[in-house]
Amino acid sequence: MLNWDDYNVAEGDAPAAAPQQEAPVQPEVVNKALETLNQEEATSATVKDQVKAAAEAVANIDIAPGLEELEMGASRISVDEKMMINCRADLNQLVPFKYDWAWQKYLDGCANHWMPQEINMTADVATWKSEDGLTDDERRIVMRSLGYFSTADSLVANNLVLGIYRLITNPECRQYLLRQAFEEAIHTHAYQYCIESLGMDEGEVFNMYREVPSVAKKASWSLNKTQALSDPNFKTGTVEDDQQVLRNLIGFYGVTEGIFFYCGFTQILSMGRRNKMTGVAEQFQYILRDESMHLNFGIDVINQIKLENPHLWTEEFQQEAIQMILEGTALEIEYARDTMPRGVLGMNASMMEEYLQFIANRRLTQLGLPEQFPGAQNPFPWMSEIMDLRKEKNFFETRVIEYQTGGALSWD
Ligand SMILES: [Fe+2]
Ligand SMILES: [Fe+2]
Repeated sequence: MLNWDDYNVAEGDAPAAAPQQEAPVQPEVVNKALETLNQEEATSATVKDQVKAAAEAVANIDIAPGLEELEMGASRISVDEKMMINCRADLNQLVPFKYDWAWQKYLDGCANHWMPQEINMTADVATWKSEDGLTDDERRIVMRSLGYFSTADSLVANNLVLGIYRLITNPECRQYLLRQAFEEAIHTHAYQYCIESLGMDEGEVFNMYREVPSVAKKASWSLNKTQALSDPNFKTGTVEDDQQVLRNLIGFYGVTEGIFFYCGFTQILSMGRRNKMTGVAEQFQYILRDESMHLNFGIDVINQIKLENPHLWTEEFQQEAIQMILEGTALEIEYARDTMPRGVLGMNASMMEEYLQFIANRRLTQLGLPEQFPGAQNPFPWMSEIMDLRKEKNFFETRVIEYQTGGALSWD
């Protein structure tokens, strides 16, 4: 049990004091502090010196140096000054809103908050441990899914926090990015919770992204897209560098979250529909709902950057974007074949291939690019129902799936 006292900073743990700047002292403030102290006979000389130093430091805080870092100073900002990238206005002023869609997604994300421990895993543990609970092909799907996702969400979170966050220059989108980063932490937590509950070999699962080729190829494709942006010296401002940001956004939102998640999600959710591994499936259902919002946010971000910077969206760049979606689709099809050498759970690799082509067409259309797989149909229409946040549906008939927090609170 955690104790509040555990969080108190023990004596001696305090970080070293920052070096003091030499600045003129405002004697009246300091004298007043000392005067109060001198009335206390018991106060030691050391404490008096510390209080004197603190009073002097506070009295001499110069507001200007902190605000000089904001290139347009500390003036009140107007909506017109806000921009997706390369904005030089104050990034600490959330309002007036310009990107209401980002703020709305932040609110929607918070309203759908959930935690992995709320989901009952008892039946899954029994199924996983029983000899005939699952076929070998089904076990392979569970292992591969947890292997890929347990590290993929961490790659996404690192890309957000170490790359994207600092380069997206408006507070509404940053607010959503902070929410998304927390959701990615919850997803990694959920996979770890499944791995631990089922008693899997953690070393094997967490190393699949390096050791199993169909998983490793996807991970390394994503990692490659994060390299430039996670360099702390990377800056936007030139056509080439701004296109690098777009490349990263298409790679992470369009492909990693927009394509790479779909084979594994479909397989696990199909398992849940057949009343197997319903706890794992429920975790994946919540994650999928979050992910569909991440994807929509990313598409909005990319399209807004295009709108504000049409010179970046050249014919050549559009071809590159199409190529990225095609590469992602090919990698996910390869993953489908590796995880489904035979038909399983009412699906097979060629049905998944068509589904992924259907998904790729959707991503291309969302980005304003032409479809590359004419006529591809969705063989799994039930997936769209699961993704729809507003759908009141008790999917596995185990509990009410719709999860709302915050909105239901009353302060009366
Ligand atoms: Fe995630
Ligand atoms: Fe995500």
